[in-house]
Amino acid sequence: MEKFDYMEKYGYEQLVYMHDRSSGLKGLICIHNTTLGPALGGTRIWEYANEDDAVLDVLRLARGMTKKAACAGLNLGGGKAVLIGNSKKLRQDTVRREAFWRAYGKYVESLGGRYITAEDVGTTPEDMEYIHMETKHVTGLRNTSGDPSPLTALGVYKGIKACVKELTGTSKMDGMKVAIQGLGHVGMIICKHLADEGAVLYVSDIDTERVDEAVKQFNATAVKPEEIIGLDVDIFCPCALGAIINEETIPTLKCKIIAGCANNVLKESAVDGQKIHDMGILYAPDYVINAGGLINVYQEIIGYDYNSVVRQVDVIYDRIREIIRTSKETNTPTYLVADTMAEKRIEMMRNISSIYLGK
Ligand SMILES: NC(=O)c1ccc[n+]([C@@H]2O[C@H](COP(=O)([O-])OP(=O)(O)OC[C@H]3O[C@@H](n4cnc5c(N)ncnc54)[C@H](O)[C@@H]3O)[C@@H](O)[C@H]2O)c1
Repeated sequence: MEKFDYMEKYGYEQLVYMHDRSSGLKGLICIHNTTLGPALGGTRIWEYANEDDAVLDVLRLARGMTKKAACAGLNLGGGKAVLIGNSKKLRQDTVRREAFWRAYGKYVESLGGRYITAEDVGTTPEDMEYIHMETKHVTGLRNTSGDPSPLTALGVYKGIKACVKELTGTSKMDGMKVAIQGLGHVGMIICKHLADEGAVLYVSDIDTERVDEAVKQFNATAVKPEEIIGLDVDIFCPCALGAIINEETIPTLKCKIIAGCANNVLKESAVDGQKIHDMGILYAPDYVINAGGLINVYQEIIGYDYNSVVRQVDVIYDRIREIIRTSKETNTPTYLVADTMAEKRIEMMRNISSIYLGK
């Protein structure tokens, strides 16, 4: 892939390669846009098939973070980090684990606060503690806001209810059939919120232990990973990895709503977002519905107050309702309504920053 062409097309600021031979650290930090503030985004650790997959993932994820912060009304820019490796194996080697995360922490520190990190797929609050030994530009620490997943899950649950309101006229989940793909930190808690309200759950994960747990805890029905997307349900809730809505999966969809926590759900927003809009499927834009975790870690920077976080996460319901309303009024796919909302805020904030304040 031509990286500079891609960066120019979508307005990226910075892409940093990192390597440390002794700990095996190999990865990238990407800063997309810092108009609204420092770039904040989690660190993902994943066994990418090749370098290009890792680069494309970090670029796409960082841009998503810019839009996420903008739509959530936070004074943050967008950034992300991806590290190439196996998180389970890393956790089993305690000496290498410390060196790996501290080496990474040094690279975060070297960016002088332009990038602030947090947890993402494959990382834990304990990993953040190691990073914290080398830099203060890290959130999601154990003694402050901790794991952001419960707040992400709460926001997704609220966003699902906002979509259901559109479908049925009420936001009640009683009897709604929901297919959840991915039962990790966020997916499992979404299951709990939905099950508590009487939703009927169908669950899938490549980790069978997670599936067994959800079946036991929530009386859910286990579904094979390859069958979950095409299930005949009201809601498909993607909570694993991105690009799950694409030209191969779209013809198999039978759901009426797509709403989940995964980032970059649409493989090609412009094509796939338009197609599902034309099919009458209501899509809750990923970076709007999954902003709860970011709202939570942002509070850590400005002074943590749990009740204030919950109030702000509740607003995700209204934001999704606003997006649906505009989408209907203008016959515009929801992904595009959200993109426009994000761009408008960044543009307006850039403009007001030109107001002279005096000395
Ligand atoms: N953790 C947060 O606060 C947060 C915030 C915003 C967005 N997200 C996004 O939500 C998604 C899930 O995050 P998480 O923190 O729960 O991650 P996680 O690693 O805890 O969980 C992901 C789960 O998906 C499963 N999985 C992977 N591939 C699968 C497949 N093909 N089919 C079924 N299951 C599969 C994994 O086995 C794992 O259990 C990610 O895309 C992440 O970027 C997370």
